[in-house]
Amino acid sequence: MQRPEQFIASMSIKEKIGQLVQFGKLKEEQDTLVKNGEIGSFLNIHGAEKINPLQQKIMQSKNPVPLIIGDDVIHGYKTIFPIPLALSCSWNIRLIEKTCEISSYEAASEGINMIFAPMVDIARDPRWGRIAEGSGEDPFLGSEIAKARVRGIQKNANPNLPKVTACVKHFISYGAAEGGRDYNTTDMSERTMREVYLPPFRAALEEGAGSLMVAFNDFNGTPVSINSFLITRLLRQELNFEGVTVSDWESIEECINHGVAVDRKDAAMKGLSAGVDIDMNSGVYLENLESIITQNPDLEEKLDQAVLRILRLKEKLGLFDSFITDPSAHLKEIRKDEYVQTARQAAVESIVLLKNNGILPLKRNKKKIAVIGPLAEDTCSPLGCWPCKGNPDNVVSFIKAFQKNPEYDILLEKGCEINSEDPASSVRAESIASQSDLVIAVMGESNNMSGENNNRSSIELPKPQRELLKKIYTINKNIILVVMSGRPIALEWEDEHMAAVLQAWHLGDESGNAINEILTGLAVPNAKLTVTVPRSTGQIPMYYNHKNTGRPSFRHYIDVADSELYPFGFGMSYTSFEYSNLRTDKKVLQEGESVTLKVDIKNTGKLQAYEICQIYMHDPVSEFSRPVKQLVAFKKISILPGETQTLSFTFSTDTFAVLNSQYLPTVEKGTIELFAGTNSRDLIKTTIEIL
Ligand code: NOJ
Repeated sequence: MQRPEQFIASMSIKEKIGQLVQFGKLKEEQDTLVKNGEIGSFLNIHGAEKINPLQQKIMQSKNPVPLIIGDDVIHGYKTIFPIPLALSCSWNIRLIEKTCEISSYEAASEGINMIFAPMVDIARDPRWGRIAEGSGEDPFLGSEIAKARVRGIQKNANPNLPKVTACVKHFISYGAAEGGRDYNTTDMSERTMREVYLPPFRAALEEGAGSLMVAFNDFNGTPVSINSFLITRLLRQELNFEGVTVSDWESIEECINHGVAVDRKDAAMKGLSAGVDIDMNSGVYLENLESIITQNPDLEEKLDQAVLRILRLKEKLGLFDSFITDPSAHLKEIRKDEYVQTARQAAVESIVLLKNNGILPLKRNKKKIAVIGPLAEDTCSPLGCWPCKGNPDNVVSFIKAFQKNPEYDILLEKGCEINSEDPASSVRAESIASQSDLVIAVMGESNNMSGENNNRSSIELPKPQRELLKKIYTINKNIILVVMSGRPIALEWEDEHMAAVLQAWHLGDESGNAINEILTGLAVPNAKLTVTVPRSTGQIPMYYNHKNTGRPSFRHYIDVADSELYPFGFGMSYTSFEYSNLRTDKKVLQEGESVTLKVDIKNTGKLQAYEICQIYMHDPVSEFSRPVKQLVAFKKISILPGETQTLSFTFSTDTFAVLNSQYLPTVEKGTIELFAGTNSRDLIKTTIEIL
């Protein structure tokens, strides 16, 4: 018999239920549970000095099953990397994986063995604060990144550290919260759920994610936390997920507020019946499962299945063999030089150049530069919406890095606060703008303006900053705008009037150094947007892979241009690229065959640089309407000035499949259009026929 089966055979009902219980605090009540061996996991406890005694205590109980210790390590543990939305713009899958591997080692060195990440929710609404935590709007790119993040978190290649499992979240459709209001209802067709929201989850599970968190939201009338269709039928039976499911924070209990459970007991019964293994923090399982099972003996099987899954995960994590974290492990692990260097590279590759009239990179001749804006000196906001154990003291602010350029004569003034005016500072900012050759405006959002429950009804720059920028513009027209934010910002006026615009997100510890490298040309910008940036909030939702209407040429609004401000996949360089000669090795193919697509890319500028080549498809006639464009492949390559590289992509016909009326992928006969280009708007095209 395997160890998990052995254990379960000798466990009392209370001990079994305990495995399904997770708490985020350690008070007397939880301590008693530990002593009795009646709790399976905790979250939000850090450090070997706190976790080891807990593990020892439970191992001395009559039910010696070690604890899972979970934590939200979203974009770094102590070395803080760019927020996931920013880093997705690198399209650098290996780099993303590396950042997750590092975060996982740092967290493991402090006793954590379950990381509540990656967040793989597709987000099409930048009002939603949690857009910061994901990889943008595209299911294909989102899936590639989901796999990389799971691989990184679960690499577990350091034998001296505890093993870690990923907990992929939030299953499912959480990113589609109505109005971008966090926790809100989602109402969508099964087709949209499967075509858009499911692929990154499927990918993460295929990559071996050990656990999954269910979402807070109601899905078509039933909250996910008690939704048997989603958890039992889709996740367990169809996707064959054998890992552990975790509720979101008190989300089972919240089914009472959703109006679908009478009380805590009813909520607990529905959660267990639907297949949620661990109840995070609400205590409804702890209080009620014993009496529920006495009254409904059929449910004991559900309980046993959940316990077995949890024990198997613990076994996989090696916890039965070693449950102690070396108390000195963190000294060797935390913020190693190579980790900080990776944070710098990640930050550089996350910065998207949105506009440049030639002012960038900054010329090296001596210049007077006014640095204005509330984020120039900020060391807190770059830590992003999940700063974890990050420390503002480790953050290199923009000004700290920029002041190291001896050739510039730098004047500094905030001009306003992030969300409020400062008239005296504004006067000083206007004065330094008038004395300078150019202005760098460092503006945007603080880190608590995105992330969980930090939604905005307007995604423009906060008003005091917008007004300050307009005032400065009347004084000095040479403005480089550096936008730090947790979401895309609608910058229509800024795009029209600024000399250059950099989307610098919340970049983590190395924020200032990375922005400085890009501004001064030490690095060539190479990131590309993974979300469409609208011109105004009213255009939301706006995403590149939308479906056609019956009247494609009709305008959508009478008061704003039909186009987006910056398309998905867009990002400028200090060099330029020319795409040509898009061809396939065959024009006609049968189902099951593959086709190779080639494209030539020439670096027509003067600098060596990275380019992210994007391949899209469109099926003009199908049984079901298809997106007008859909990313199917990409490559990030370095090209020398004047050099032409030929890139090659091979696709099986499965790439072009549609979900049929039973939601099974089906290859249809007919024409497929294939596109290649530097973003989702500027593309060259060829076609193939499937016979
Ligand atoms: C609520 C959030 O939705 C989830 O992402 C997080 O993992 C849990 N709280 C635990 O902190």
